[in-house]
Amino acid sequence: MDWGLKNRISRIIKPATGRTVMLAVDHGYFLGPTTGLEIPKETIEPLLPYADSLMLTRGVLRTSVDPEKSPPIVLRVSGGTSILSELSNEGRTVSIKDAVRLNVSAVAISVFVGAQYERQTLLGLAELIDEAEEYGIGVLAVTAVGKDMVRDARYLGLCCRIAAELGAHIVKTYYCEDFDKVVASCPVPIVVAGGKKISERDALKLAYDSIQNGAVGVDMGRNIFQSESPVSMIKAVRAIVHKNADVDSAFELFNSLKSRGSKKE
Ligand code: 5RP
Repeated sequence: MDWGLKNRISRIIKPATGRTVMLAVDHGYFLGPTTGLEIPKETIEPLLPYADSLMLTRGVLRTSVDPEKSPPIVLRVSGGTSILSELSNEGRTVSIKDAVRLNVSAVAISVFVGAQYERQTLLGLAELIDEAEEYGIGVLAVTAVGKDMVRDARYLGLCCRIAAELGAHIVKTYYCEDFDKVVASCPVPIVVAGGKKISERDALKLAYDSIQNGAVGVDMGRNIFQSESPVSMIKAVRAIVHKNADVDSAFELFNSLKSRGSKKE
């Protein structure tokens, strides 16, 4: 790995622990004004000090994040579809030139294995890697799951391995039973998506199980910004990821921070 690429990846996966808490706020690119992200700046700002990196679109980055206070950026560069259309029909939405101008640490693109436009998205990943590597920019491959796909270790293992074989530097996927097998057969680091909002305790358990089974971290969105206390939640997730806290102590931390802080915190 060349120096620039290694340096950028180390902004995301912190060398001190080898782990990362990524905050995902890119949902609007196909979901529109997702609950909790109606006014992105208001949601994002209080969470910034606790996010190892921020995953978002160019539009939200430019309008809602102060360039002088920004954590490392993982820029979503795929899209072109909405929940009203065929989601797998994604294409590239941002040039590498603009990613360089925005000084991002990595770019993120979805791949839809087993879906209608599988080939297009996989070749899109390979092409993006070629372009990004010219500038030492990392590529995060997001293994997007279609409605009819079973999220089991066999399927997610297939998605992660293909993304890694094509050259992705980090892969984002979902947690599942036998997750250690998904991790073992993927030669690059894996981060786990939070998925739909669940109870805070269950989301902390998801983070804990992911780490225990070999993920280097989480790339969590709704279970942080839709929490009744987003700052308390991201701090509790950090305790699991960076300090090896167990679920009970992280949940206790969440509750004590929540009772001390304001509602937004
Ligand atoms: C969509 C994404 C989202 O960033 C991802 O789903 C993470 O957010 P959440 O934790 O809310 O699932 O990559 O393809």
